[in-house]
Amino acid sequence: MNGLLVPIVSDGATFTVFFDGRPVEAMEGETVIAALLRDGAFLSYSEFDGCPRAGFCLMGACQDCSVWTNDGRRLRACATEASRDMKLFSASPLGKWSPTDA
Ligand code: FES
Repeated sequence: MNGLLVPIVSDGATFTVFFDGRPVEAMEGETVIAALLRDGAFLSYSEFDGCPRAGFCLMGACQDCSVWTNDGRRLRACATEASRDMKLFSASPLGKWSPTDA
């Protein structure tokens, strides 16, 4: 699958993050959303129609890029730098989330 994003700088060190248990290559300094969309992943599903979501504003305002950490915290993928061995999910691994987690 082709990704939604193509990097204009690709000489950074790479490492692996995990999204829904699948390894995704990330580059040093890029955001979680950049790594996931470059890889061709979506971020979550719409609670209204079940369609895949891929972020909207890309500046931390809309929360359309929410992903969850393995301990159940919700974070904005567009405002979070990817780090080595992150374990992220398209839905809360705890089966619940709170707006106060954002
Ligand atoms: S895409 Fe809007 S908050 Fe991340």
